[in-house]
Amino acid sequence: MKNVILIGFMGVGKGSVAREVAKNSKYMTIDTDDLIESMENRKIKAIFEDEGEAYFRKLEKDVAKWLESSVKNTLISTGGGFYKQNNLKKIATVVLLDSPFDAIIKRIKAHPNATKKLKKRPLLADLQKAKELYDERRPEYLKLADIVIDVTDKSAQSCAKELLKKVKKYA
Ligand code: S3P
Repeated sequence: MKNVILIGFMGVGKGSVAREVAKNSKYMTIDTDDLIESMENRKIKAIFEDEGEAYFRKLEKDVAKWLESSVKNTLISTGGGFYKQNNLKKIATVVLLDSPFDAIIKRIKAHPNATKKLKKRPLLADLQKAKELYDERRPEYLKLADIVIDVTDKSAQSCAKELLKKVKKYA
């Protein structure tokens, strides 16, 4: 099985979809932000605050190299900026979870842990700036994706089902 990598904007549901896929398939799942947090033994928010974004991006690069050399049969969920790694296509089939900006924010705000979800993401602190980032990134996400899944108003279960059906072609 070829690896599958989930890309998409913050809060679009990459982690939830990855967990559903893992439940219903033979894929193991890992998350690039989780790997970075355990490598550093601190939260992403603290890494941004203590070291700055450039340092975090360097850690993402280290993770991308390791994924390419050492990871197989795995569904990889990523942070929203991980797609910038230039070896993405060598690592996996690239799946974009896509949704309009307003729907993503609505989704986060509807979550019981909404405050925590917003707080842990430094790049969502200013929604105007986050919208600009979304507008800049969306065409780049679309360009990279082998598969696009519109997740708007869909459950993680149904997105996972759609993903498993679509990736068969690339396995
Ligand atoms: C980021 C997204 C975050 C996390 C970091 C930077 C980004 O992950 O990697 O805060 O640049 O979009 P999520 O997409 O899981 O929120």
